Parts: sequence; C-alpha cells; structure tokens
Amino acid sequence: MTLNIALLGFGTVAQGVPFLLNENKEKIEQAIGTNVEISKILVLESSKERLEKQFDHNFVTKIEDVVDDTEIDIVIELIGRIEPAKTYITKALKSGKHVVTANKDLLATHGQELISIAQANNVSLYYEAAVAGGIPILRTLANSLNSDKITKVLGIVNGTSNFMMTKMVDEGWSYEEALKTAQELGFAESDPTNDVDGIDAAYKMVILSQFAFGMNINVDQVSKTGIRNISPEDVEMAAKLGYVIKLVGSIEEVESGLFAQVSPVFIPKGHALASVNNEMNAVYVESIGIGESMYYGPGAGQRPTATSVVADIINIGKEIQVEIPAHPFNQFKRETVLANPDD
Ligand code: HSE
Repeated sequence: MTLNIALLGFGTVAQGVPFLLNENKEKIEQAIGTNVEISKILVLESSKERLEKQFDHNFVTKIEDVVDDTEIDIVIELIGRIEPAKTYITKALKSGKHVVTANKDLLATHGQELISIAQANNVSLYYEAAVAGGIPILRTLANSLNSDKITKVLGIVNGTSNFMMTKMVDEGWSYEEALKTAQELGFAESDPTNDVDGIDAAYKMVILSQFAFGMNINVDQVSKTGIRNISPEDVEMAAKLGYVIKLVGSIEEVESGLFAQVSPVFIPKGHALASVNNEMNAVYVESIGIGESMYYGPGAGQRPTATSVVADIINIGKEIQVEIPAHPFNQFKRETVLANPDD
C-alpha cells in the first residue's frame, strides 16, 4: 500500500515537504509501514508550465483533480489565508481525505467549523505547523490538557515583530529600518500589517487557547496592540529600567473566564522570554503540575515548518495503518467565557 498525498500550493514550505519526505524516507516508511508519495500538486494555471520545467512532479490546476481522486489519502494545504484555502479544505474533508495545514488565519477564524466537518466525515484535520512553525507546541499542550492544568500561556509567536523589536532594542534601529530588513529576509507576511499590528500573534494565541484551555476564543475578542508606535525613546527608557520590550500574546484563566491579549510589554531582563531574540518564537506556560516551562524554537522557515507538516503526515499515516478512528486534533472541553479586559 502507498500513502498518497496531494499538496495544495507549492511555495517555500510546500517545496520542503517532498524534500523532507525523501530525506527521511526509510524512517518514515518504517514508522507507518508504507511508502509515502506526493501524487499531485495543485498550483495556479499561470505557474504550471514554469514549475513543470523545474520539478519532476504531477502538477494540476483544478481542486477536483485532487478531491475526486479516490487514491489520495491526505491533502496538505499550504496556500495560506482564508480563500480559496477554506473551500479547498472543506471539499477535501467532505471527500473523505485527511487534511494537514499550516494555516493559522483559517484555523483561528473558522477552526470549529472545519473541525466539525472533519468529525462528520470521520477524517483527521491536523495543523501543528500553524503555530510557532518548528516547535511541536500544539501536541505538547494537547497532552497537558489531560495530564496537567494550565493557568497561563505567554507567547512570542510572531517572528517578524520579534526580529524588529530585537533590532530596535539591541542595535537602536528605527521601526522603518527593522521592518524593511524583516521583509527582505522573508520573515514578514506579504502584507506585514498582520505581523506588526499583533493580528498574526492573536491568531496563534487563539489556536493555543484551543489546546491549552480546551476553549475557543473569537479572534475579534482578543485585544490587540501592535508595535507601530514604539519609539526609540520607549526602548531606551525600558533598557534604563532593566526591561526589554517585546510583542507578547497572553492568555490567562481568571475567575471570570479567559483573558486574552496581544501587546508590547516590558519584560524584566532576567525573565526567560527576554532572551528570545530575532525571529525566534517561544511559548511560556504556567501550569499546576509542571509549574513553569518554556518551549523555544524557530517560528517559520522552510525546514522547521515542513518538519511539523511531515510529523502530522506521519501521525495520520500511523493512525490509518493501525485503523485508529479519526479523532479531533484538539478537544473543546469547555464553553469559553471571556473576561472583560477592564476587570
Ligand atoms: N509572518 C509570520 C511570523 C510567519 O513572522 O511569525 C510565521 O507564521
């Protein structure tokens, strides 16, 4: 038997998937007991000819070529943003295909709907790469949900703004210089608004809350302040007082519910989060069982993100092989009550 995969999109991360599947071929085959093949890659009509000249893959341009193909087991969505990704994922799930995605925007805004569609069709929807690309944080938190009680999650989960703040703090760069370099280095989204205004971080915090607290927060209810208005004077003042400024997402369980926000905060220089620099990500967790823990690593990039995608593929492959029925990646255990930020 072969595990057949279709990729939707063939950008930087997607190109890393066949590369990693090939690099770890033997181990993966041993782990799931079958070989894995990329049988189709969905791309835009306008890119097909160019890609066919460059790569030895079967490129198609219509989603029906993927969802109507009964041989395909897993669809990997790496197009990003909401549409057409949402329509494509919905079609794939309804056609009985398991889906792996790195799409934080989509999972944060339409996660519950897609999870319900996956459940109704008895297939898996996994998205480890959606938050802090290279850190296996979602599975870790999903385990903690059952074995521990998490009370607070703090996240430096947007690499672009963290890179910018690091340069503004350590090198005295202006906001504009830092943004330009982040864009040149490819960390920023094509439109960096979501990065610098805290929206990308809010999406990731919403997904983290699903795993850490078993609750779904509406992204509109997360208060968001970005880094646009941070001046060199702010950075200097923080340094004099023994702090660094970083864009931090936080979710805390308080008496009246969950309190969620993204904002630039003063972090004492001795705190573990203060040393998370450049484009790196970290998720800091306070829980009753473990106490304090921090998970650190790259939040983006071809290899780290593709590694998380491949880990999801292997998990689904194993489940298919041992005939474990599909089950939700996360578990919504409780109704969400959002605390009033003014409380
Ligand atoms: N633009 C995002 C970031 C990419 O800077 O973190 C990874 O989600």
